Amino acid sequence: MITTETAFQRCLAATCGKTYGLNEVRTACTCGSLLDVVYDWDRLPVPKTLAHFEQYWSRRYEPLNYSGVWRFRELFPFAPDDKIVTIGEGQTLLQLNAGVSDYIGLDAGGQTYLQYEGMNPSGSFKDNGMSAAFTHAHMTGAERAACASTGNTSASLALYCCVTKLMKAVIFIGSGKISYGKLSQALDYGALTVQIAGDFDDAMSRVKEVSKELGIYLVNSVNPFRLEGQKSIMYRVLEGLRWQVPDWIVVPGGNLGNSSAFGKAFIELKQLGLINRIPRLAIINAAGANTLYELYEKHGVRWQQGKGDLSQVCHFYDEMDRTNSRADTIASAIEINRPVNLNKCLRALEACDGVVRQVSEQEILDAKAQVGANGLGCEPASAASVAGAKQLVAQGIIGRDERIVCILTGHQLKDPTATVAYHTTDQDQFKKVLGSRGVKRATYANRAVAVNNDLGEIIRAIELNS
Ligand code: F0G
Repeated sequence: MITTETAFQRCLAATCGKTYGLNEVRTACTCGSLLDVVYDWDRLPVPKTLAHFEQYWSRRYEPLNYSGVWRFRELFPFAPDDKIVTIGEGQTLLQLNAGVSDYIGLDAGGQTYLQYEGMNPSGSFKDNGMSAAFTHAHMTGAERAACASTGNTSASLALYCCVTKLMKAVIFIGSGKISYGKLSQALDYGALTVQIAGDFDDAMSRVKEVSKELGIYLVNSVNPFRLEGQKSIMYRVLEGLRWQVPDWIVVPGGNLGNSSAFGKAFIELKQLGLINRIPRLAIINAAGANTLYELYEKHGVRWQQGKGDLSQVCHFYDEMDRTNSRADTIASAIEINRPVNLNKCLRALEACDGVVRQVSEQEILDAKAQVGANGLGCEPASAASVAGAKQLVAQGIIGRDERIVCILTGHQLKDPTATVAYHTTDQDQFKKVLGSRGVKRATYANRAVAVNNDLGEIIRAIELNS
């Protein structure tokens, strides 16, 4: 039986460390820092090996073992079984992909795996975290849940509300900043959709104010329970590799929830003696939304066990405001100026000997086309991971003989506008959607062949092109 004492919330700041019970609904400590969910592992039944989890596969008729998140619940034991909310999330694929591996530049000794999170019920990795945050919301009796979103968090929240009928969804989006695939999900699932005249960061700061004012449960990744669910992406990667640790995890960075969760997962697994080494972490920003890259790689901001000098972060943000510089990228999912999980992400980078890179719109779209051409598909933000891996191989940081896992965070159909514009024969459309962003070529385009409605012409076109 889980009691509140074996799991609790704790301030991330080493100088504070204040704790809160599980029943408290907070997204920050009173000192303003982020909160972690922590466990008193000495008083919890911890599995002896990761292979322990294999037994649950044979019981996948039980919803909690069917879930790719909750079958690992002994590694984030904050919820009693009867309160857990699952809609079948986490049935995702770890695919060894030789074509993408060639594109990235690995040699025959290397391996590229794609962790395809687009297979989740709402089409993105967000469902991993949402099932955990939603569970906590349910434990605390919440009736409404809110988020700000670049689209995927909102689609996920809307779906959990719609399937379970436990809460009403209120979502905040920036105007004109969300792809139609994602917006259509929120609308179809019946969420109250508030479109703010502004971008994601504006929506984020408003939703914090509004949820406080109206007592609405906030499910953005400032919510520490979200990240507990997102740890399971790494458990499934290890499961897919028969519990072997890869050399690299490569993930796109937006609000930095995933990277923070991955770092926490590995720190805990090592602490529990369930793995003997931690993989390296590469976080990939879009060049048009590169706050983390600037801070980590250019300004040398480091966590240093919570003692690092983070004053540069404030200066950086002040400068951003002064020059009115705003994130701008075709990878709209990661078009974020001020990542809310920055500090937790710095901790993850430290634990995982991490690196951060930025990739151009051209690199993102070419990588996306290659992911599609090799059998999966993803939205632009997800392809940043593959583009970043390619860059790191070219720089000699990822070895050509290493085993790497790129996280494909969202489904191909989330953003068809970018895909069609890349493959189009219509130069005006190409220029409008991509050329305006500095994309010069569509090297891997598969162009549709236009023909008259004439049998002879159709046959000639097929023979000419096949
Ligand atoms: N990839 C996709 C497809 C996303 O939707 C997001 C974030 C990220 C990557 C970045 O992940 O925030 O954990 O670093 N989307 C959020 C949203 C912001 O509102 O849907 P992160």
